[in-house]
Amino acid sequence: MTAMQPIKDTPEIKPRKMDFPFSDVTEKFFYANNSIISTYMAALSGTFPPGEKGFIDSIRLYRDQVSDPELLEQIKGFIGQEGQHSYQHKQVNIALDELGLFATRIEKDLEKKITEDKGRLDSRDFLASTVGMEHITAVMAEYLLNNPHILEPLTPSVRELLLWHAVEEIEHKSVAFEVYQSCVGQRRRLHIVMGIQTLLFVWQVSLYQLSLLRWAKKVPSIKDVVGAAKFFLGKGGLARNIVGPYLDYFRKDFHPWDNDNRHLIDDWKRARGYSVETDLETIEKNSQYSTGAI
Ligand SMILES: [Fe+2]
Ligand SMILES: [Fe+2]
Repeated sequence: MTAMQPIKDTPEIKPRKMDFPFSDVTEKFFYANNSIISTYMAALSGTFPPGEKGFIDSIRLYRDQVSDPELLEQIKGFIGQEGQHSYQHKQVNIALDELGLFATRIEKDLEKKITEDKGRLDSRDFLASTVGMEHITAVMAEYLLNNPHILEPLTPSVRELLLWHAVEEIEHKSVAFEVYQSCVGQRRRLHIVMGIQTLLFVWQVSLYQLSLLRWAKKVPSIKDVVGAAKFFLGKGGLARNIVGPYLDYFRKDFHPWDNDNRHLIDDWKRARGYSVETDLETIEKNSQYSTGAI
């Protein structure tokens, strides 16, 4: 992507309190009975509660150094949104546990690792790792919102969970970056931390996936392998399509809003019958799930 001026009027960051009925998740391998894709999604879901708590903690360490009232308001929205994501993923992780995919074991393991890292890491690296992970989640969110058909095999509650999470990741995608730029501001550190953490993230999620398969005593079938290869590497597949946007991060003048994808937020609201300008009260009235402000 060529360098451009990031947009000025970024979306409002307002937490939506959701309540998904995960009772519709009744299959252990909940994604088209494919054990590889299901454990990949469950492993990610297991990492979200401790991971997002870590994002919040890293930003809280710098909040007192921020004086811009607009950014302070965005930090408040960011903390509220990530707190809600964490809570909802905890709920789906409990539902998965009951089916024999032990996502909460991953939560506990990662929570321990992050607590240890927090004690060891320089706070600038801790914040830089949040900026990097926020870029990765924003890139994955954009992919999901542009390719909602890949979520079709999921039950409605999980599909809605992922789409809602994706929309809010886009809404708050620049917050950690802005905090870093105003309080630390070293690009080189961002790039180095991102390189290291990408490798660690892929490695850790793969290990968690293997653990989930082992705990479920499942050896993937040939059909699972073929389905997963298509899901990740096929034309329109996840891995193939996120590499380019991921690499934008390493441009020396990168800003998350160089990529103006606000329309994805508006499309999500429209698809649910919300007017783009509607307030939270109207959303609550119209939603199939109960929602409300924090
Ligand atoms: Fe999140
Ligand atoms: Fe986020």
